[in-house]
Amino acid sequence: MNATISASSLQTVHVPLGERAYDILIGPGLVARTGAEIALRLKGRKAAVITDENVAPLYLEALIASLGEAGIAAAEVVLPAGEKTKSFEHLMTACDKVLEARVERNDCVIALGGGVIGDLSGFAAGIVRRGVRFVQVPTSLLAQVDSSVGGKTGINSRHGKNLIGVFHQPDLVLADTDVLNTLSEREFRAGYAEVAKYGLIDKPDFFAWLEANWKAVFAGGSARIEAIAASCQAKADVVVADERENGQRALLNLGHTFGHALEAATAYDSSRLVHGEGVSIGMVLAHEFSARMNLASPDDARRVERHLKEVGLPTRMAEIPGELPPAETLMDAIAQDKKVKSGKLTFILTRGIGQSFVADDVPASEVISFLREKHP
Ligand SMILES: NC(=O)c1ccc[n+]([C@@H]2O[C@H](COP(=O)([O-])OP(=O)(O)OC[C@H]3O[C@@H](n4cnc5c(N)ncnc54)[C@H](O)[C@@H]3O)[C@@H](O)[C@H]2O)c1
Ligand SMILES: [Zn+2]
Repeated sequence: MNATISASSLQTVHVPLGERAYDILIGPGLVARTGAEIALRLKGRKAAVITDENVAPLYLEALIASLGEAGIAAAEVVLPAGEKTKSFEHLMTACDKVLEARVERNDCVIALGGGVIGDLSGFAAGIVRRGVRFVQVPTSLLAQVDSSVGGKTGINSRHGKNLIGVFHQPDLVLADTDVLNTLSEREFRAGYAEVAKYGLIDKPDFFAWLEANWKAVFAGGSARIEAIAASCQAKADVVVADERENGQRALLNLGHTFGHALEAATAYDSSRLVHGEGVSIGMVLAHEFSARMNLASPDDARRVERHLKEVGLPTRMAEIPGELPPAETLMDAIAQDKKVKSGKLTFILTRGIGQSFVADDVPASEVISFLREKHP
């Protein structure tokens, strides 16, 4: 890992996407610097800040004050917290407020919150006036390491998650690592599953570093900043290589096929399972399935499970509270999530820690027998 990271507490990851290039700043105290950082980069002096009811009482005042100091007039939109907010109804409220605030194309929409607020605000920024500037101030670990980077925005449909949206890259991402101190331990752990994911995709050294340093990452300070910066860099690299997911960006879905099926099976009830927990169980399943297909050693699956368990994440379907539907129903959810071509599925599989790949010829019959073994 990069030793220079602890020398300065602020890290910058640049996302070189040509005219859509932007910086991700990571470190303490960034909420209070939002106005100054925006004023340095954007011409507009109007903004609409979109946030949720949990985050607003904690950070909205400080953010608005920092905009005021930089001469940026800001309107506030406070939406309910939770996945259900990613709906047309709340999108409409957000768009109306952005227009009411007379935000023009060089002005910006600012998302202050977790991935729910980031996805919805980014969509609003992408469609109001056919696109206004967009700034992400992610406040959950998941949003800081994953959803705020890469430009995927959207809302949910009754047909499934994230089915309605646009690609709209942010102009700036400010990941204030101090705000993570108010995040619940459960949400922090769930975000950590995505951090570990980057190691498992193609960075075995990062995974080993996390095994050795996870306690320091959870405690905060420079190890936390280092882990977030490494994650943003990993995501940025994938996004730059394949912005619109024609190929390699799919690797970011490691553990997500099984994870999404479990989220659907629990009706997106966050008291039973949150996304990162589904991803944790899903990553263990992906490694076990790869071992079953003789692609990887079962020792790798055990090593992945050991680490995720150690940090306090669930790693087995049986740990999900309440009854799960039978393997056949999980399989239906998987098939719905994917294109099934003549009985073959596309999956992210692995040859070992940090050696994942896109496999587009996985027999559905193997998946269903595996699921029956795991969830008899
Ligand atoms: N666009 C993408 O590329 C992408 C990638 C991954 C996930 N996502 C989306 O992200 C969403 C999940 O994001 P999430 O896990 O951040 O969920 P979330 O936005 O619901 O946040 C989780 C909870 O933490 C609260 N919270 C957030 N920051 C806080 C803070 N600093 N202090 C106290 N409480 C705080 C929120 O109010 C919420 O209750 C999903 O909708 C998922 O589809 C998008
Ligand atoms: Zn995820």
